[in-house]
Amino acid sequence: MKGLVFTELLSMADEHVGEDGVDQVLSGCPLSSGGAYTAVGNYPSEELTTLVGAFSDATQLDIGQYQRMFGRWMFGTFLDSYPHFFENKATAFDMLDSVEEEVHVDVRKLYPDAELPVFKTEHLDAKKMVFIYTSPRGLVDFCHGLIQACLDHYGETADIQVEVSRSDKLTTARFDITRLS
Ligand code: HEM
Repeated sequence: MKGLVFTELLSMADEHVGEDGVDQVLSGCPLSSGGAYTAVGNYPSEELTTLVGAFSDATQLDIGQYQRMFGRWMFGTFLDSYPHFFENKATAFDMLDSVEEEVHVDVRKLYPDAELPVFKTEHLDAKKMVFIYTSPRGLVDFCHGLIQACLDHYGETADIQVEVSRSDKLTTARFDITRLS
């Protein structure tokens, strides 16, 4: 997993527990990288899950909630760093439709070693979209946070129902998104 994801997690956690708190959490975690992340490095994705768990403990927030919060945070980072992906989309559904075939395709061109999920989308009617996430990394709540932030960005609200199934190697999450406004 890209180092940028780790450096962003540490920046967000810094706002919750401060620099010393971040160092304390890092030194208490079994991290093969030693916790010295750089934005251009690559690190095991399991370390992200470990760190989200440790920061949720340190803040006494629910682990799923912490991972969703981080998804929201990363949306802000993507928006700041890659505004062009968002500018030519009129709605959150347009944006979500473009992730698999445009956004992550470009990410893969930039970083051939990027570890990306697979998305399938289906439109049931003008207000209902099904967004299906499949990945060996199982970052369902992170994805949920990105979707919520995407709706917020386009000034929309929606009901989101999630159904998760996990096998040995893959996690699939079906997000049923119904636009309310
Ligand atoms: C709402 C829109 C988006 C959704 C739902 C989404 C979803 C995800 C998810 C769930 C992951 C984690 C990897 C996994 O679970 O397998 C991921 C990784 C990533 N995404 Fe997206 N993404 C979105 C938009 C973007 C945008 C706009 C960019 C900017 C270029 C981007 C760049 C990346 C990068 C760099 C990674 C990390 C790859 C790695 O660590 O190797 N994504 N995305």
